[in-house]
Amino acid sequence: MANLSLKNLVKRYEKTTTIHGVDLTIQSGELIVLVGPSGCGKSTVLRMIAGLEEVSSGDIYIDDENVTHTSASKRGIAMVFQSYALYPHMTVKENLAFGLKNMKCSKEYISEQINHAADILQLSEHLDRTPNQLSGGQRQRIAIGRAIVRNPKIFLFDEPLSNLDAELRVQMRHELTKLHRKLGNTMVYVTHDQVEAMTMADRIVVLNEGKIAQVGSPLELYNHPNNIFTASFIGSPKINLLPVQVINNHNKKLTLSLFDNNAITLINSISQLKTNDSLTIGIRPEHLTTEITNDSIPLEFTLDEVESLGDSTYLYAKLFKKFDFRIKLQGQYNFKENNNLTLHLSPKNILFFDSSGEAIHDIREQNILTKNDVELNVVVQE
Ligand SMILES: Nc1ncnc2c1ncn2[C@@H]1O[C@H](COP(=O)(O)OP(=O)(O)OP(=O)(O)O)[C@@H](O)[C@H]1O
Ligand SMILES: [Mg+2]
Repeated sequence: MANLSLKNLVKRYEKTTTIHGVDLTIQSGELIVLVGPSGCGKSTVLRMIAGLEEVSSGDIYIDDENVTHTSASKRGIAMVFQSYALYPHMTVKENLAFGLKNMKCSKEYISEQINHAADILQLSEHLDRTPNQLSGGQRQRIAIGRAIVRNPKIFLFDEPLSNLDAELRVQMRHELTKLHRKLGNTMVYVTHDQVEAMTMADRIVVLNEGKIAQVGSPLELYNHPNNIFTASFIGSPKINLLPVQVINNHNKKLTLSLFDNNAITLINSISQLKTNDSLTIGIRPEHLTTEITNDSIPLEFTLDEVESLGDSTYLYAKLFKKFDFRIKLQGQYNFKENNNLTLHLSPKNILFFDSSGEAIHDIREQNILTKNDVELNVVVQE
């Protein structure tokens, strides 16, 4: 177990800067999930932590030791790659032993470590097979086993489950979470998978073009994204974003114009918004419901497409006949394309972002539109 700190970490490849000053402190035993679009620098950050990639500037600390220029083998870190990187001609046992033999560990120690890892990962029965005699999930477990036998202070995982089918992914996800609980090691885990990120992470780090967009617990990021980037990245299907302009804001009435002549009016206590301010409002697909609640506002949709998933129904629809919208309803519905539909939205679920894409948290906090002290309505002006 170890703390890990990244201080103003920068990576340049010739003229292009890939990582622009990342600052992050990871507590001992924490499971951090790193997410972000393809090419944003997740693997580069991981490889710099592992010592497989040189740091252009900035520092990496493990506990209080500066390891920025320490060789990979001396950092006490083990990394698991997406491509497993197993030796095909070696048995499971030999694959597990390989790193420890190189480190000149004693036979007894190696055997102890292998038995320990095989036990945790339920590989004991397969120790004499070669990787091609094993399933994808079993191969993945060997790759993880190879990391475990080294007894590292820190585990790094770079999309370790992405080669597995859906069912195996779920199974391995649970196994990794259990493993983390059992071993208590510090872990940094890169994934593209929303569910993995939300369910496994103590904290999620959202990376955008080599910069941290936000760090927080999964629910903090979902409920209080600091910016449009995080709001769009966390949540599936993706949040709906509507560009709006303030028409006026007085007497606790905020009127926002949406494209053409459409406008919505929310009655609330927002004070800092002024006429002509440009904003973006964010509405998550799952926050639209068929039920009316005390504070909900009705919104009119025309359906383009209906997808029935059994437990839920995805709708692709147009708001006010114009604006493309994603909607996720729980349960099954008999809606058809071109149906008109009124759905309801509780304004407390609306996220507000300023013209530079930063969240307007003050509004959100003030704008807790409780049933008692706020009345709401929506006026659609044609
Ligand atoms: N050796 C290299 N030379 C030049 N540019 C590189 C090199 N390695 C990576 N890059 C660039 O650095 C950026 C970040 O790459 P990285 O592999 O870290 O992204 P990633 O977030 O892991 O993406 P993915 O989700 O696709 O795995 C990319 O634009 C990539 O092209
Ligand atoms: Mg990568």
